[in-house]
Amino acid sequence: MERSDTQPRQTWLNIAIAVARDAGDVVRQGFGKVQHLDFKGSVNPVTETDTAAEALILARLRAAFPDHAILGEETGGSPWDVPGPIWLVDPLDGTNNFAHGFPHFCVSIGMMIGGELQVGVVYDPLRDELFAAQRGEGATCNARPIHVTSVARLADAFLATGFGYNRRVAADNNTRRLDDFLRRSQGVRRAGSAALDMAYVACGRFDGFWESYLSPWDLAAGVLLVQEAGGHCSDFNGGTARLHSGREVLLSNGLIHPEMLRVLREGPAAPHPDFLCLGPKEAEPKGQSPAG
Ligand code: IPD
Ligand code: CA
Ligand code: CA
Repeated sequence: MERSDTQPRQTWLNIAIAVARDAGDVVRQGFGKVQHLDFKGSVNPVTETDTAAEALILARLRAAFPDHAILGEETGGSPWDVPGPIWLVDPLDGTNNFAHGFPHFCVSIGMMIGGELQVGVVYDPLRDELFAAQRGEGATCNARPIHVTSVARLADAFLATGFGYNRRVAADNNTRRLDDFLRRSQGVRRAGSAALDMAYVACGRFDGFWESYLSPWDLAAGVLLVQEAGGHCSDFNGGTARLHSGREVLLSNGLIHPEMLRVLREGPAAPHPDFLCLGPKEAEPKGQSPAG
């Protein structure tokens, strides 16, 4: 890569890191002190901390890059697919967790030009973990390189997912896919922050993640983290047509991607792994329901 290409990206990344850390301070200080809980829908909360963190991020990005577009979750802005540089900002990913005192949420900031992600930062202010990626330069957690796992079979994979805010009313609210993957993997977690789920795929805590009805600000940083950590990102068809909008998101270490795509495509008809080591605890006791 030419030096002239890398230099602005390094500047963008340095500023994104500084801004994410400062917004993370706002989020950490607001945790456990929610005064105003509003709802954008029946289950889509917003607190004064979402608003304050976004105001800080937007002011800093506008000052640093007056000619760049911005799309923030709380204040809106440009469409995500403008041709020039655009910052995609989720000031607090995991607001439901935050509002209920559940300590798992983050700040997510990504930057894209012409549909191509350039830099991404996900900052977890409680664990002080800063995940960062720059196109072509790899991904890091607290400045140490990170990589996706080498788990090769879905049967051995530890997965994450989430349920969109339309979950009470949507005909397809992801519960059927949850059932399909629970029956074919080592486990599925719903931790409540899509950006952290993706950062955790990048650093090997999860092997794969899927969700639908996300938004570009949920995704931008996490997708680049996974790509730069050696993973693969697609929509549910294996392409990218519905990826960056957030409509359908499948991220994995790459190795289990074909198996995950098959489960998404075929649902309950997809092959079950051959769980050769089925132990007595998993076998249903005669005449009894298995314990939950
Ligand atoms: C939400 C979280 C959650 C995911 C939702 C997102 P928010 O973002 O990432 O894990 O399941 O679809 O909207 O509202 O907390 O920023
Ligand atoms: Ca979000
Ligand atoms: Ca948010």
